[in-house]
Order: sequence, then C-alpha cells, then structure tokens
Amino acid sequence: MLPLLSLLSIFFILFLLLLFLVILFWLTHTNQSPYYPTETYRLKLLIESGELKIDSNTKFIDVGSGDGRVVDLVSKYKPKLAHGIDINPFLTLASKLVFLVNRRKNVRIFNGNFFNHNFSGYNLIYAFIFTESLEKLLNKLNKEVDEGCILVSNTFRLSSISPFKIIDNFYFYKIK
Ligand SMILES: C[S@@+](CC[C@H](N)C(=O)[O-])C[C@H]1O[C@@H](n2cnc3c(N)ncnc32)[C@H](O)[C@@H]1O
Repeated sequence: MLPLLSLLSIFFILFLLLLFLVILFWLTHTNQSPYYPTETYRLKLLIESGELKIDSNTKFIDVGSGDGRVVDLVSKYKPKLAHGIDINPFLTLASKLVFLVNRRKNVRIFNGNFFNHNFSGYNLIYAFIFTESLEKLLNKLNKEVDEGCILVSNTFRLSSISPFKIIDNFYFYKIK
C-alpha cells in the first residue's frame, strides 16, 4: 500500500511540474507582453482621487487582462461594463472562476487575442502591454471606438500621440 501511495505522489508531483512548465511555456511563447500584474493599489488611488473617473456610463475593458484583478477592481465602482480579454487560457480560466464565485452582472472575461476583439462601444480602455503592441492596438482603436474614448496605459508610452495626463506611471490618451 505504501509503495503505491509513494508512486502516486511521485506521479502527482511530476504532473504538477509538467503543468507548471506548460504554463510557463505558454506565458513566454504565445504573446508579446508576458503576464505581470498591475499593482492595483496604485490604480485604486487614481480612481479614489477622481483622476480616473468610473461611473454608470463607463464601458471598460482591460486589454490583456491577466488574472482579472483590474477588471475586479474597476467593477466595484459600478461601471456599465467591466470586460477583460486575455490570450492566456489559464489566466482567463482563473479569472472566470473568480467571477463565477463573486458574481457581478457587469463583468465579462473573454479568452482570445485582443487584436481580434471588437472595441466599438467601449469608452475606457486599460492596457499594460509593450509599446509595440500598444501602437498596433491604437490603429485598431482609431477605427473602432467613438470619440471621447480614453486609453490608460500602465508604464508603456505611445510615441505616435501625446498623453493628455501622466500620473504615477499611468499615461492617459484621448483616442481620436
Ligand atoms: C503585463 S500583463 C497585464 C495583466 C493585467 N492587465 C494587469 O494589469 O494586471 C499583460 C497581459 O497581456 C496578455 N496578452 C499579451 N498579448 C496579448 C494578445 N495579443 N491578446 C490578448 N492578451 C494578450 C498576456 O497574456 C498578459 O496576461
């Protein structure tokens, strides 16, 4: 009995190790901006200070939403929509599970490539992705969003347009 248990434990540990390697491979090879979470307390300060306005008219999306922590934070301020999209199936599954437990009507997480997502209707877009992806995304946003849409980029700065506001490491851009 004991050797069988030890054998099962070894298989279980090997399975976990394999799973970890698969996740690591996915994180480093399937997209240009790897997973690195926003320090949400910094974003919370922006919202609480009124620098980042979120109200019942806000239609928000986090582009490359990772584990959904930004969507979670924003959704607490009762926007009309709080969406997230991420290419990494493990991260989207994890965030979907969290929102399954903490049900919120306005929240939705998509699994997929944000370059294939339709951004029409959103008026507040948050991104924590490399500048190269951000520039490419800007071209798409210019075609899809309505005037007045705001893009907030964490850390990475666009070179093609100037931010109208910079606070902490967050760059605020008006699209169009
Ligand atoms: C730096 S993390 C930011 C995560 C989250 N937004 C946050 O601030 O905590 C960047 C995320 O973008 C995702 N990502 C990168 N390229 C993507 C693409 N083309 N489509 C969808 N998600 C992408 C990665 O999987 C990763 O989770």
